[in-house]
Amino acid sequence: MARIGVLTGGGDCAGLDAIIRAVVRRTRLTHGDDVIGFRNGWKGVIENDTIDLTIERTAGILTRGGTLLGTSRVDPVAGGNERIAAVHETIERNNIDAFVVIGGDGTLRGSRDLQREGVHLVGVPKTIDNDVDGTDLSVGFCTAVQVATDAIDRLQTTAESHQRVMVVEVMGRDAGWIAACAGLASGADMVLVPERPFDIEEVCEQLRGRHRRGRSFSIVVVAEGAHPADGTLKAAEGRVLAERTRLVPSGIAITLQNEIQQRTGFETRATILGHILRGGTPTASDRILATRFGIAASDAVKAGSFGTMTALRGREIVQVGLDDALRFRKPLEPEIYNDAAVFFG
Ligand code: F6P
Repeated sequence: MARIGVLTGGGDCAGLDAIIRAVVRRTRLTHGDDVIGFRNGWKGVIENDTIDLTIERTAGILTRGGTLLGTSRVDPVAGGNERIAAVHETIERNNIDAFVVIGGDGTLRGSRDLQREGVHLVGVPKTIDNDVDGTDLSVGFCTAVQVATDAIDRLQTTAESHQRVMVVEVMGRDAGWIAACAGLASGADMVLVPERPFDIEEVCEQLRGRHRRGRSFSIVVVAEGAHPADGTLKAAEGRVLAERTRLVPSGIAITLQNEIQQRTGFETRATILGHILRGGTPTASDRILATRFGIAASDAVKAGSFGTMTALRGREIVQVGLDDALRFRKPLEPEIYNDAAVFFG
């Protein structure tokens, strides 16, 4: 009987428990193999912090947000040989044959590197940012877009009542998928994304144009990683978080609120949706994707397809090599932005 370790790494999102449930059920009931969970991503493997993943323990979790395993951004390889040795020790102590690693771009990259150190694993992509290149969709993205859309719908009515410009900031450090898709779904008047540095004067001119045409309010959706074109405006300073080497942006919505109000004279308010997009119950489409990915990951381990990641390609679930899947970060497709832009101004 084989023994599979399961862990969730990186930022959480809706649908993680649905993946875990599917892995456990498929592995135990179809393949007759054993499953063990590790708490808080690779940190739990390094520290041998385990949790029993039985059918009973994972029943009734399909609809839950968050992850019953907990998560962290600990990279198993970045810390050097000590961490890698600790992983191998845990593998031996628990007789682990392979891991199912549920993670976003960062966690999957660390796992790919660990795999080169002889650790067998299969990845499952999850991230609200939808920027893992090897798959059309990652678990958590559709829920985040739905939550953002619901929030923007609510902001529309208060914007209209007060004749205000509402700036809504959504997550998306490097990619504008959530901003553009939520903007499309809610009919936003402007969407700003990291892939297209903006000129604040052009943004203000679009808003002025709307008002000249008789519209009394506007909705601007901005991804947290959106930034002004060089030399047009000084952006807010970023911050570096634990286990991160890159700057995480902060407060672009506040900068925009102040600039728009000052330059146009229109009363402007900022709303930062932040982690609300990561919490709560997954949508039906995320539950389905999570369940299909979980089953596929369990099957891939059984088949010995290590170093691969489950991926959605069109309507099909396939296994793609981690190296190929992670070659680039997937930027927002220009066509989606262009479709949203039909409704700007
Ligand atoms: O999961 C990715 C992400 O949602 C980014 O869009 C965002 O910048 C980041 O997580 C926030 O992470 P944390 O919860 O560590 O602040």
